[in-house]
Amino acid sequence: MSEYHTREAFEARMAERRANPRPPDPAAVFYHIACLPGWEPIVGEQLAVLAHVGLTTVQSAVLGTQTEARRVREIAQYYGVSVEILDVIPDPGRYEQPTLQAAHAWARANPGGMVIYFHTKGVSARADEHKRQWRRVMQRYVVADWRENRARLAVADILGCAWQESVDYPHFCGNFWAARCDWLAGLDPPDQYRLSRSDFRWAGAHSWRDRMFVETWLGSQGWHHVDDRIGKSTTLWNERVWTFDPAIPGFDYDQIFPGDPAGIAAAGQWVRPDPALRDVQGQWDAAGIPRATGHEEMAYIADGIARVTAAKVPGVVLECGAWTGFSSACLSIACARHGRRLVVADSFAGLPVPAEPGYAGGQFACTQDRWQANLQRFGRPEVTQARPGWYAETLPTWAEPVAVLWMDVDLGESVRVILDRVLPWLSPGGLIYTHESHPSYFRPDGTVGEETNLVWRAIKKALGGRLYRARFLCGSAAELEIR
Ligand SMILES: C[S@@+](CC[C@H](N)C(=O)[O-])C[C@H]1O[C@@H](n2cnc3c(N)ncnc32)[C@H](O)[C@@H]1O
Repeated sequence: MSEYHTREAFEARMAERRANPRPPDPAAVFYHIACLPGWEPIVGEQLAVLAHVGLTTVQSAVLGTQTEARRVREIAQYYGVSVEILDVIPDPGRYEQPTLQAAHAWARANPGGMVIYFHTKGVSARADEHKRQWRRVMQRYVVADWRENRARLAVADILGCAWQESVDYPHFCGNFWAARCDWLAGLDPPDQYRLSRSDFRWAGAHSWRDRMFVETWLGSQGWHHVDDRIGKSTTLWNERVWTFDPAIPGFDYDQIFPGDPAGIAAAGQWVRPDPALRDVQGQWDAAGIPRATGHEEMAYIADGIARVTAAKVPGVVLECGAWTGFSSACLSIACARHGRRLVVADSFAGLPVPAEPGYAGGQFACTQDRWQANLQRFGRPEVTQARPGWYAETLPTWAEPVAVLWMDVDLGESVRVILDRVLPWLSPGGLIYTHESHPSYFRPDGTVGEETNLVWRAIKKALGGRLYRARFLCGSAAELEIR
């Protein structure tokens, strides 16, 4: 323990800072970037936030290739942020250590200053809405509020969100923080600290414990004054994250990538939320009607309808699985916008009695009248046509081209019947969307692994040996293109 980390030193410096508060200066931003699949929109989002709040110089170690590091520079230039790349490391197993190491060295050289530290939170689960919200809460309080935080660090040693009071794992939940350099300078360098934690080290490389040292390093010495912007020992890794408002004054996440000349959104296959569909969801929820999908998933499918229209792919949009009609209403709006017809196939009596576990016959039952009334109220009935009945009875007579097929039918056996009848009618260049997907099924090369559910097993079986490209979108939705 260095002298700084004793009760006497703590009490003395707190008394001195309270009597004579001086905000730390200068401030430096250290930003860890992990180039995992789909990283570009996250980096674009975070650089846009930095530019918005006037933090236009950052230092980063990049876990990725030289090509990816060049791309980081391009995106930064697009947002007017100057990024100094400290190191390019192909091994993702180094986690946040290289950037923290550099932050520590800078703190020792600038004892009167402060460090703002953050990272590409959520990049390993890019489409996870919960992680995105968690990242945005931290961006709001730690990064965007940096001027206020600087004032608070006139007294506090370290600042962040949801400090976890724990003997073994004290840390800011999510590891975005700001800290005085005199505090950081008194810590061991992160690599040395890692070696001192045999409990982490012996857990084995790439285990969650091995990663934890990057989070617990900041609080690895006692006698710290923690300023928590949210509340100590609250958590951000569960639904409670939704109770914190992540809005950054004057900054709109929907307005990032304007015009997108750098192709950031396309590279990460990111789709801008569709305000019309978001409104439908707001009104739908206000009316208290249940739904099984969300407006962001629908925005991806609406984007697919726009793409097939631009490519002049012939055919209707076929929805299988409507329940109360939320996805039908959203897709009808997209179809009306692009001059397409929407056909909605459903039993309007819920699921058939399944041979598969986890579901029950009649589940998600909604009468055709109720569905029609919801469509009338929220969607575009004039472009929509119902095809009521069990798929085994209504789809064998299917005989028209399909440009987009969307399946939200829960059961592998229903998917099997649909694809058996509809796949031969899918136009070249047509797109298939399906619910019941999870990010872990999808490989970066566009193939789907073996660890899947019955829906994806039925899809892969129906494809036989055909080449395809599948990608996870968000929520539980995925896109499939047959080559
Ligand atoms: C989870 S719900 C759809 C939810 C809806 N897409 C939404 O946005 O809320 C599943 C639907 O699939 C329908 N379904 C599943 N298998 C079916 C089958 N073999 N024949 C007809 N309808 C079926 C059910 O009637 C139910 O309406």
